[in-house]
Amino acid sequence: MTAPPTRADKFSFGLWTIGYTGADPFGGPTRAPLDVVHGVEKLSELGAYGLTFHDDDLFAFGSTNAERDKQIGRLKQVLADTGVVVPMITTNLFSDPVFKDGGFTSNDRAVRRFALRKVIRNIDLAAELGAKTFVMWGGREGAEYDAAKDIRAALERYREAVNLLGDYVIDMGYDIRFAIEPKPNEPRGDILLPTVGHALAFITTLERPELVGVNPEVGHEQMAGLNFAAGIAQALYQGKLFHIDLNGQRGIKYDQDLVFGHGDLHNAFALVDLLENGGPSGGPTYTGPRHFDYKPSRTEDESGVWDSAAANMRTYLILKERAAHFRADPDVQEALVASRVAELSTPTLADGESYADLLADRASYEDFDAAPYFNGRGFGFVRLQQLATEHLLGARG
Ligand code: GCO
Ligand code: MN
Ligand code: MN
Repeated sequence: MTAPPTRADKFSFGLWTIGYTGADPFGGPTRAPLDVVHGVEKLSELGAYGLTFHDDDLFAFGSTNAERDKQIGRLKQVLADTGVVVPMITTNLFSDPVFKDGGFTSNDRAVRRFALRKVIRNIDLAAELGAKTFVMWGGREGAEYDAAKDIRAALERYREAVNLLGDYVIDMGYDIRFAIEPKPNEPRGDILLPTVGHALAFITTLERPELVGVNPEVGHEQMAGLNFAAGIAQALYQGKLFHIDLNGQRGIKYDQDLVFGHGDLHNAFALVDLLENGGPSGGPTYTGPRHFDYKPSRTEDESGVWDSAAANMRTYLILKERAAHFRADPDVQEALVASRVAELSTPTLADGESYADLLADRASYEDFDAAPYFNGRGFGFVRLQQLATEHLLGARG
């Protein structure tokens, strides 16, 4: 029996996720708005450790200072009462009409200046609440029409914005890092920095690249037909996995934001195995929040919202348990050896070997026999994947 979630599992949820009222482009809300105090109490009861939010989730866009302070005060009180923390904060630069052509990269310079001010104000709030990660998802940074957006100028403006925000956190002495969240499209026809790879490349152009990492989302990479676990492996390899958005997606279509695992379950298994067991000595590769960015389906009433919140955590924990069994199974260990998975970690050249040494090594070329690779020397990857599948199905150990 899988143990229920505890704070130590570091599960967190966006206020906009449990608070999603079911509105979509084809129909209005199917549920009443969720109050933040009730939301935090329920998350705490279910075993989550963190709440994340956009400024506008907590206090409506255009709120007076008094309204804003009141909501921040109510949040602080319920955090104190429950012990729930705010590990991450993010800014809404996409809902209000002012952001219809984006925030940091709107063609309208006044909008860009307004967006920067909105973000700086929210960074102060992040510091006040002790959040260590500041996510930047540029849903409206993009275009529908190629002639409408100078992409090189947009990248330059995005860079200007991130550099400025870096100056700000350093000057203020805040212990905050930024995480860029890529997405290929939706709501814009094409979004700037569409994939993990684009974001990682962009980060190298910044003045303080060490302050900026990525916040990849399962569904966003899968909307582009990409392998999420592989993208996470590259983000880890480059030391850039600052945060993660877990959810479920079934194929290349609109952003479904299903419960984690309610999509490509094999890839979810590979992901949890990587996060939990992929470290150099077998331990976790990532120690930050396991953050769910999903939408409780609009078919659900409030009890369905909490069932789905619990389902995200339970599925993660079941996969963690399955992945541990997978790693411990002697048949799997033997199959890994047969597949020569560990051999890839051996450098291709010997210590100190140069290209001249390689050119002089007759065994590597002149005497090397490629013929046995036809009709022999299979790698056994399918057997390994079947073992993973059987562990995933709970059919072994
Ligand atoms: C989406 C995004 C958002 C972001 C959020 C945090 O597709 O709508 O995933 O949910 O994660 O705005 O910045
Ligand atoms: Mn999303
Ligand atoms: Mn997200």
